[in-house]
Amino acid sequence: MSTQSTRAPNDLEAYWMPFTANRAFKSGPRMVGSASGMHYFTPDGRKLIDAASGLWCANAGHGRESIVRAIQEQAADLDFAPPFQFGHPKAFQLASRLAALAPGDLDHVFFTNSGSEAVDTALKLAIGYHNVAGNGARQRLIGRVRGYHGVGFGGIAVGGMSPNRKFYGSSLPATDHLPATYNRAQQAFSRGEPEWGGHLADELENIVALHDASTIAAVIVEPMAGSTGVLPAPKGYLKRLREICDRHGLLLIFDEVITGFGRLGFAFAAERYDVVPDMICFAKGVTSGSVPMGGVLIRKHIHDAFMKGPEHAVEFFHGYTYSAHPLACAAALATLDLYESEQVFENARSLEETFADAVHSLKGLPNVVDIRNVGIAAAIDLAPIDGKPGKRGYAATEETFHRQDMLMRVAGDTLVLAPPLILDANHIGEMVDKTSRTIRALA
Ligand SMILES: Cc1ncc(COP(=O)(O)O)c(C=O)c1O
Repeated sequence: MSTQSTRAPNDLEAYWMPFTANRAFKSGPRMVGSASGMHYFTPDGRKLIDAASGLWCANAGHGRESIVRAIQEQAADLDFAPPFQFGHPKAFQLASRLAALAPGDLDHVFFTNSGSEAVDTALKLAIGYHNVAGNGARQRLIGRVRGYHGVGFGGIAVGGMSPNRKFYGSSLPATDHLPATYNRAQQAFSRGEPEWGGHLADELENIVALHDASTIAAVIVEPMAGSTGVLPAPKGYLKRLREICDRHGLLLIFDEVITGFGRLGFAFAAERYDVVPDMICFAKGVTSGSVPMGGVLIRKHIHDAFMKGPEHAVEFFHGYTYSAHPLACAAALATLDLYESEQVFENARSLEETFADAVHSLKGLPNVVDIRNVGIAAAIDLAPIDGKPGKRGYAATEETFHRQDMLMRVAGDTLVLAPPLILDANHIGEMVDKTSRTIRALA
């Protein structure tokens, strides 16, 4: 029998694409070949405006020279360093920089390679923390309906998207979920944080009453749910969650994989909402997507609780071969420099109103049933085609890519705009114009 592959080198068949309609893609591929600043370029040279920051990653735009140089130099200097029992200077430098950027005493960092790993790390830390503090019965994890926390078993257990959960068995047994914060009847066409819905945080009291606080380790929420279509936190909601967690000794974890690094106009959404969680999960924007990296920012008392026992013993049995990979650390340090020198978060903040005005101008177009925005993120819900949910959305993915020269993220029938944070008012105009044309083309 031949050991040779039966596949030609450029055959599209072998690559099983993630979260992709594989058969549809392969019958009409959407390929990008290069990227620079606010744009992607197709292999045949078409220029596409990036309305998705790649996948909520490229907050500093693409192909930024200082980041590219840092990665190149690092690859030549130190390609890999074992992270278990050994270190390299940039890992420590980066942890200190991130701790300085985060609010309150979130001053320790555990590195991962992705948002999913960051979430699973935070959940393990939460349960482990209660264990080392002598509260081993606190194992239950509370997520939220319409939350997305990546694809690890921990993340899907606390996540609230049924397609991500229903195929994979019962997952973690001890979980529960807060209700979703979105209610179209109450919130349609809200600008920024909706007025209605802060009281939904009080549902946590009912969950505590049901399970008893002594069995609950942590609550994890996205300050703005991104993947299920830009659901900003209602006014007051996050503060109320913090208060209830404090009352019952529950840890509060913010999953800031999307909201971190400027998306809401601040380094972290925690700052915007003036709430210090016990942990922050981050990824994506930390390197502007240039090298995979994620991590968890951890408050001092949680870190310190683990630092017990004999000094030669491992304190937290967890880690990844590529935790604090030198290329990722170099990329992240260069990215943080760029965010600072170009005032990227401030740019996002100063353009929030212009962006909001532009996206809300789409109200009244055919099939538009809601528009939401916060920071530099917006969603336009289109009415689904009868009996075919997601079909109009898929048509939008094709229309924008092939005919409007725009790369846009679509979730179901919801169009999402989340461009790089180096944008200006002209880019906003162009993206909203192209979105408008797309909506009209699909009517
Ligand atoms: C809030 C949130 N958490 C976790 C993840 C998972 O990140 P990754 O795809 O890097 O594993 C995502 C990805 O979009 C996310 O939006």
